[in-house]
Amino acid sequence: MISQETIEQMMQSLKEMKAAKEQEIEEQRVKWLGKKGEITRLFEEFRTVSPELKKEYGQKLNALKVAAQQRIDAMREELSQIIEATKPASDLTMPGDVMELGSRHPISITREEIISIFRKFGYSVAEGPEIEDDWHVFSALNFPPEHPARDMQDTFFVSPGGDNPILLRTHTSSVQVRTMERSDLPIRVICPGRVFRNEAISARAHCIFHQVEGLYIDKNVSFADLKQAILLFAREMFGPDTQIRMRPSYFPFTEPSAEVDVSCNICHGKGCNICKGTGWLEILGCGMVDPNVLRASGIDPEVYSGFAFGMGIERIAMLKWQVKDLRHYFENDLRFLREFETVV
Ligand code: PHE
Repeated sequence: MISQETIEQMMQSLKEMKAAKEQEIEEQRVKWLGKKGEITRLFEEFRTVSPELKKEYGQKLNALKVAAQQRIDAMREELSQIIEATKPASDLTMPGDVMELGSRHPISITREEIISIFRKFGYSVAEGPEIEDDWHVFSALNFPPEHPARDMQDTFFVSPGGDNPILLRTHTSSVQVRTMERSDLPIRVICPGRVFRNEAISARAHCIFHQVEGLYIDKNVSFADLKQAILLFAREMFGPDTQIRMRPSYFPFTEPSAEVDVSCNICHGKGCNICKGTGWLEILGCGMVDPNVLRASGIDPEVYSGFAFGMGIERIAMLKWQVKDLRHYFENDLRFLREFETVV
C-alpha cells in the first residue's frame, strides 16, 4: 500500500541501483517505470488515497518518478563513458585510409609544357623577384616617364615615390633586363613567373596572372629568326598544322613589334565562337629588342641584336582547353581541377 515509508525505501533503492550492461539498465527501467512497474503501480494506488493526503503524496510520487528517470539516464551516461574509455585507441588491423592524390594545376601543366618546348630550342630558364623596382620593370625597358603603365591605376606600388619606386612587376620582362645586366652573350632565356596588374577581376582579366617571356640576343639575330621560333613553338603547342600570322603592334621595348595569332585549333580557320568567327586566336606579343633597351643593360646594339616575346600562361591554357573564365584558375574548385587529372 502507498505510504511514506514505501516511497522512501524506493528512493533509497533507486540510489543504490547498479547496472553493468545496457540490458540491465533497460530491465531496471521496466521494473520501475514500465507499464507494470512499481512506480506506475503507486500512481494507480494514488487514486484511492484520501483527499486530504493527495497533495502531499502527489508531490512525493512525482519526485520519485523524476528521480527514477534521472537515475536511469545517469546510469546510461556512466556506462557509455566506461565503454568509450576502455575502447582500444584504434584498431590496428583496420585497412588504412586511402590518401586522395592531388593533381597538377592547369597553369603548372601549361607552364611546364611551354618551358619544355623552349628547352628543346636551347633556351634556359631565368627567374627574378616579384617585388621589383621601376628601373627593371619600366625605365630599362624604354618606357618614357609619363607612360600610363606607371600609373597607380595600372600598377601596384609597394613604395611609390623617389627615383626608383618599388612595385609588383607587371611583366617578367624585368627578368630579361636582369639577365642582360649580368650574363655573358649570347643570351637565350625564358622567364616564367607571376605578374601583377591593377585590374578589375572578370572572366577575361585578373590582377594576378602568369607569363612566360623569352629573350634571344646574339650577333645577326633577325626578325626571320623570331618568326621561325614562334612558328615552331606554336606548332609544338597547338599541333603541327598550326599557322601563325603577325600583326604590327607597339611595345616600348621592341621595334618593330608584333602581335601573333595562331590559326584556331577548334575550327581550323573556318570560324567558330572561340575565335569569334575570325579563324585566328591571339597568343603573344613580340618584337626586335629596341637598341635603347640593349644600351640600358650595357649591350652594344651596333654589334648585337635580339628578339623578345611574351605570353600569358592563362591565355594559352584557355585556348588549349577552352576554359571560358579566367577566374576558374584561382578559385581551386575541385570540379575544375579534376578535369586536368589525366593531363600529363
Ligand atoms: N612584356 C609584354 C607584356 O607583358 C609582352 C612582350 C614581351 C611583348 C616581349 C613583346 C616582347 O605584355
